[in-house]
Amino acid sequence: MEKNFLLRELNTFGFDVKARYFQELKTMDDVQELLRNPEFITCRDATLSRLYDTPPRLLILSGGSNILFSNEFYDGFVVYPNIKGIETLSEDAENIMIRCYCGEVWKEFVDYTVSKNLYGLENLADIPGKVGAAPVQNIGAYGAEVKDAVYQVHTIDLTTGGTKVFKNEECHFAYRNSIFKSLKNILIFAVDFVLKKNGELKLDYGNIRNYLINNNITNPTLKNVATTVKTIRAEKLPEVGVVGSVGSFFQNAIVSMDKFEEIKKMYAEVPSYPVDSDHIKVPSGWLIDKAGWKGHREGHVGVWDKQALVLVHYGGGKPQEILDLMKEIQISVKEKFGVEIKPEVNIV
Ligand code: EPU
Repeated sequence: MEKNFLLRELNTFGFDVKARYFQELKTMDDVQELLRNPEFITCRDATLSRLYDTPPRLLILSGGSNILFSNEFYDGFVVYPNIKGIETLSEDAENIMIRCYCGEVWKEFVDYTVSKNLYGLENLADIPGKVGAAPVQNIGAYGAEVKDAVYQVHTIDLTTGGTKVFKNEECHFAYRNSIFKSLKNILIFAVDFVLKKNGELKLDYGNIRNYLINNNITNPTLKNVATTVKTIRAEKLPEVGVVGSVGSFFQNAIVSMDKFEEIKKMYAEVPSYPVDSDHIKVPSGWLIDKAGWKGHREGHVGVWDKQALVLVHYGGGKPQEILDLMKEIQISVKEKFGVEIKPEVNIV
């Protein structure tokens, strides 16, 4: 266990946050040892009792690519699961089941599956973070969500030490959400994926098809799609490790049909995606852009100039600057459109 551990490399926003206690877990034995650690037990139990306004004192941190520490000192215990390994469990003529442990880097895992010509994760290429975190917010991009490839999720309860396997339907996957967001002290140590040996490519979202046509690719392969996604992402999103960010800072807004018609009167071209008969999804990036924030810079932080859904930290700043900017943007979008936009990032 480390004390006063600097988390700069473990939050892609790149803030100089320190944790009172920090423990990396490389094996299941490390997990058992953690469960006996007195500082861990104290922090865990304080989190569980949560008297009055005491903030939680136990945090399971993965790649740190979807987290904002609101304070520069985390007065608690950070657990960093980092178990590696990829195994084929079974296969038949159509499908293959692969177990991937939590510490594998997501984008390297996607590259591995694409290199083996396995269908299912190609649209999720280059998403930052680690495999153990992928089910938590049901990562998604370019018309795909990880839920469609997850067979089951292996967890250990850091309160009881008991293990539990969550079958896909028990994970309650939804847009950027799952049961794991609401469970306390549950560590995901491995995920089993079912991938297809022959699948259909998803080309309908955003620019994928256009990009392929513009590059004279008429009969795209799995690799073409993964490469296209990577290229489009690189054009829109700041490079992880170079500019501090967490990808999308806000969730897309789900609004009523009436609200949508109202916005449409102002901007006939407003983009949208269907949700159900009463609701429609409007990209928050578009709302923020139309409210005039794209490329705006304030001190050490700002709004990315190629995608307004992304807030960035240029270095040397404090988390509070991002929180202030977030509030200003929320108020401005509310004033202009009457729409409340919520953070997608996990604020701790
Ligand atoms: N738009 C603008 N201005 C902007 C940004 C977007 O007008 O500054 C418009 C675009 O032109 C487009 C629409 O808004 O018509 C949607 O934009 P985009 O396709 O870039 O996707 P998004 O809805 O902003 C979502 C995910 C991203 C994911 C992309 C691609 C969420 C919160 N975000 O963004 O996920 O990569 O779709 O599938 O759902 C992430 O979660 O960190 C993330 C990057």
